[in-house]
Amino acid sequence: MKAVFMGLGYIGLPTAAVAASKGIDVIGVDINPDVVNTINSGKIHIVEPELDKVVKDVVEKGSLKAKLQPEEADAFLIVVPTPFRQNHRPDISYVESATRAVLPYLKENDLYIIESTSPVHTTEKMADLIWKERPELKGKIYIAYCPERVLPGNVIYELEHNDRVIGGINTESTEKATVFYQQFVKGKLHPTNSRTAEMCKLTENSSRDVQIAFANELSMIAEKANINVWELIELANKHPRVNILQPGCGVGGHCIAVDPWFIVSDYTEQAQIIKRARETNDYKSDWCANKVLEAAVEFEKKYDREPVIACMGLAFKPDIDDLRESPAKYITSRVVAESNAEVLVVEPNVHTHTTFALMDYKEAYTKADIVAWLVRHKPFLAIAKEENKIELDFCGVRK
Ligand SMILES: NC(=O)c1ccc[n+]([C@@H]2O[C@H](COP(=O)([O-])OP(=O)(O)OC[C@H]3O[C@@H](n4cnc5c(N)ncnc54)[C@H](O)[C@@H]3O)[C@@H](O)[C@H]2O)c1
Repeated sequence: MKAVFMGLGYIGLPTAAVAASKGIDVIGVDINPDVVNTINSGKIHIVEPELDKVVKDVVEKGSLKAKLQPEEADAFLIVVPTPFRQNHRPDISYVESATRAVLPYLKENDLYIIESTSPVHTTEKMADLIWKERPELKGKIYIAYCPERVLPGNVIYELEHNDRVIGGINTESTEKATVFYQQFVKGKLHPTNSRTAEMCKLTENSSRDVQIAFANELSMIAEKANINVWELIELANKHPRVNILQPGCGVGGHCIAVDPWFIVSDYTEQAQIIKRARETNDYKSDWCANKVLEAAVEFEKKYDREPVIACMGLAFKPDIDDLRESPAKYITSRVVAESNAEVLVVEPNVHTHTTFALMDYKEAYTKADIVAWLVRHKPFLAIAKEENKIELDFCGVRK
């Protein structure tokens, strides 16, 4: 079995490497020559525990080779980015260009799988594109969609052990794709059609977004009602069938903050709650920024000087260094831009940042008049509260 993986990023590289470690002859293709050179030298260009060992091993054995161009194989996997455009509409141009790149190499009985998170109908659209350009292959190759649901930081384990949903454009395609994944996945493989599989990935992330929006909405109501939201949620969760998530300063990252828009943009009239949840989670970040700015104005009125403000955390969730789509970074940028105060920026998981001069978290806490807790990083939990500080706790550091 020989497989070509198109795209060697956070998902494509670990999947290609794990497949190679299970006996598949893998050609990893990326348009970025630096990525290709790094991998061929047995190294990696992304941060992911355990990945360096697997890649080094399979590159040395010759079972993973990185290239700039695809070549003939039995299976082709599309693992390229699917961002959204400025108007929140999905951009599937990378999927299309990767598909066009493999077109000349497709032959009878080959398997073509999309793993990129994609809007509903993308797999059928790509099937149409393939039939249009290679009509002689119609009905003679297998086409499926299989979304990825691994957690960054635990990818190598989850790639092998998570259940997966596999949706072909017909039953034969689903079966052929299932046999492919059986080679390296120990989790259960659940068969369906391509549309349901596409929607399943979007549903998983939208479900998280909606549940977080509920917690975030509660936090704003509780503040208005002068109720401690952390206590409120803890008590409500004592109900045997209630399980409310924790509020935060918004929702970030490249999945939960992005994928729901793929549903909203195609089903605008129907996707009311999904759209409101996205807006609520985005609004929560502005709400937090406004609270910090208002506290600064109050401080100045009271003490007749600008306060020193500490923005604690930049990452999009606790204990990681990933700042993509991060609400904490957005809030910090607004506070820096819109107040005259000295703003101390803290992110213990990042050494340097292009925009912000980063400060040690303990030093920042000591120096600040106003402390805005933006991310619930573990080291923050050990800081003892000083009575003279104005603390705005948006993520439950003090709960
Ligand atoms: N990162 C995650 O945690 C995660 C989880 C689940 C699903 N996904 C989805 O998986 C897909 C890939 O995400 P990622 O995080 O690996 O992206 P990434 O940006 O880390 O990597 C994508 C790679 O594809 C390459 N590329 C772009 N166009 C190409 C082309 N035409 N041919 C070959 N290579 C090309 C890029 O150079 C890049 O190295 C996306 O749809 C994403 O939504 C990501």
